[in-house]
Amino acid sequence: MTANELREKYLEFFKTKGHAIIPSASLIPDNDPTALFINSGMHPLVPYLMGEPHPEGNRLADVQKSIRTDDIEEVGDTTHHTFFEMLGNWSLGDYFKKEAIEWSWEFLTSPNWLSLDKNLIAVSVFKGDENAEFDQEAFGKWKEIGVPEARIAKLGAKENWWGPAGITGPCGPCTEMFYWVGDPNKVPDSFNDDNDLWVEIWNDVFMQFNKKADGTFEPLAQQNVDTGMGMERTLAVMNGLDDNYLSDLFSNIIGKIEELSGKKYVESPEATKAIRIITDHIRAAVFVIGDEKGVTPSNVDQGYIVRRLIRRAIRYGRQLGIIKESWVKEIAQVVINDYSSVYPELKKNSNYVLIEMEKEEIKFAKTLEKGEKMIKGESINGEEAFNLFQTFGYPVEMTEEIAKEKNIKLSRNFTDEFNEAMKKHQELSRTASAGKFKGGLADASEETTKLHTAAHLLLAALRQVLGEHVEQKGSNITAERLRFDFSHPDKLTDEEKNKVEELVNKAISRKLPVKCGEMSLAKARELGAQGVFESKYDEKIKVFSIGDNDYIFSKEICGGPHVENISCLGKFKITKEQSSSAGVRRIKAILE
Ligand code: ALA
Repeated sequence: MTANELREKYLEFFKTKGHAIIPSASLIPDNDPTALFINSGMHPLVPYLMGEPHPEGNRLADVQKSIRTDDIEEVGDTTHHTFFEMLGNWSLGDYFKKEAIEWSWEFLTSPNWLSLDKNLIAVSVFKGDENAEFDQEAFGKWKEIGVPEARIAKLGAKENWWGPAGITGPCGPCTEMFYWVGDPNKVPDSFNDDNDLWVEIWNDVFMQFNKKADGTFEPLAQQNVDTGMGMERTLAVMNGLDDNYLSDLFSNIIGKIEELSGKKYVESPEATKAIRIITDHIRAAVFVIGDEKGVTPSNVDQGYIVRRLIRRAIRYGRQLGIIKESWVKEIAQVVINDYSSVYPELKKNSNYVLIEMEKEEIKFAKTLEKGEKMIKGESINGEEAFNLFQTFGYPVEMTEEIAKEKNIKLSRNFTDEFNEAMKKHQELSRTASAGKFKGGLADASEETTKLHTAAHLLLAALRQVLGEHVEQKGSNITAERLRFDFSHPDKLTDEEKNKVEELVNKAISRKLPVKCGEMSLAKARELGAQGVFESKYDEKIKVFSIGDNDYIFSKEICGGPHVENISCLGKFKITKEQSSSAGVRRIKAILE
């Protein structure tokens, strides 16, 4: 079975059960400040699991791009991935345990669908604890379907409780399905979750609770179903493979790495491991940079993860014997080719992805060997690790990993020393934290307010001229000027700058009004409002739109303040355009 067949079958099945098929959301959460990446199918659906009506109805299914970064260092074996695809279906207060379990069983075992051997399936259910009781209903349903009792394990919250995706939010007991991948004639009568030959392929979560910030659980207003089937693993099971990397999801990527390195995947355990790491990391980096809300390599947040992934891939590329320069983008191109039909944003952003990959590679490749040579002796301390980061761009995790490989000890206070050195450095270079104003505004004077509204016009114009990858990355506005940081890989040409000024000034000459609406975050996103809003899900937010009924120039989530009509802004002028950090440009502008 190919990846495309599995995706299609899954969605087709749930269509026959009345589900609307929705597109994957961006990998970058826009309603969860506690998480860097979307980590599951339910994550972007949190507002709807909490009760917000979904425009497509209360039965949904999709294939969601997801990233889990907890164990990047584990990648290299047969099962770990940072980026993965999750097949999922949801009931938003509609059907519950009975249908969820029946349909899971039907999809897995019916000859019309996956046709898996019923005799090789085992399940687990939640055994109960102080927060919630034993899931009698799920247990009873599996028995009724015909799963032998010895194959229905009752497990605790560690195994059979899922969520929340971040720190707070929807969660609940779950039931997991496992498939026996060992010799079918030797399938044990009972299920044992320590046995790796039982591979988990699907998880049905019954989201009845909301975990609150104080750690307690409250019942949700509606009973939801959230299921997740890991694409990589299920595809391996469907094809009788004992290594996820052997499915067609990865074959072209691995082929390209083999070609570039002259090494075969099966050549040696070291080669296999290196090829898996390069495959996983570059695939993940392509998806993050090429996302609708693309993030470029940097030293903070998602950008730092992308940087780590690319640099770790480069390091393993060297180990594998790839000597060519700028090879990372060649693999990225294969990822883009293979995945664009399902994720068209990759094609749309392909130039941007390739440019960013190459830039990051050039930046790192020069210092790779020098840095590695510096990691020597008996032990290394946190300050030394910080210097490697500062001088050679070595992510601290990579330094730790290399030290481990070379049997070099980390000093006892390694992390503290690293943080201390980082703090000292930041104080010296007076970074972001110094002089940061609330909401980016120095004061609430009339001039500042005007420039604040102008910043909204600027963002809208930049997106029109440069493309939809442009996102606001920061701003700082005083009564004299606005400073605006945004994602974009290249210096702006004079022509681009003129075009941006022209668009803003044209909008001003149209005397467009500024209107403010209060709505839920979900609604704001649905309307295509720009901006990141960090707060609880159920809170109302403000959206400022600049335009009239048939012409909206800008729509942004924002707390204000703004002018009532942009006719008072005067003439907008860009005074400076420069680099702010990797992949981020900075514009300074004034109103004359
Ligand atoms: N959200 C559940 C999971 O990721 C389905 O396993």
